[in-house]
Amino acid sequence: MTKNIVLVGFMGAGKSVVSKQLATRLKRERVSTDELIEQREGRAISDIFQKDGEAYFRSLEKQVVAELTSRDGLVIDCGGGIVLAAVNIDNLRKNGVVFYLKADPQTIYERIKDEKHRPLLADGDPKKKISDILAQRKPFYEKADVTVATEGKTAEQVVDEIISKI
Ligand code: S3P
Repeated sequence: MTKNIVLVGFMGAGKSVVSKQLATRLKRERVSTDELIEQREGRAISDIFQKDGEAYFRSLEKQVVAELTSRDGLVIDCGGGIVLAAVNIDNLRKNGVVFYLKADPQTIYERIKDEKHRPLLADGDPKKKISDILAQRKPFYEKADVTVATEGKTAEQVVDEIISKI
């Protein structure tokens, strides 16, 4: 069995770009939990949050992660809040190595300030929300097997670092 490479981290940490490059470099299939959920539901994450709420979205996330336990050799790009459910981390670890792509609040803000599709940051002061949510999630992200600092690094450098650790 070839273990999955699982990327977790806050929105804007670079999971999407890094997972795409990683999958290309390693000739692996990439899956994104957000994309699987959107395909299944036939609508955008922001619509799911708006019409059915975060709890419903989290239940879909758990279902997708549970299904991925039966697959190997993948690069998995996880939604930023996946770590909140202990069952998700347990499942992702069963057949994968979990990498936490770490970025500080300022870097995250700079990367996502012009994007409009992030329901958790849609209202209020985005800088404060990023700091608050990140602080709250820190212990959960730190359950990852490996932490990769992304500040000041290109996606390619992050990919190199992940490859050197698998
Ligand atoms: C979320 C992150 C998003 C998406 C949803 C919730 C979060 O994914 O799953 O909007 O709770 O951090 P990305 O981290 O890929 O933006």
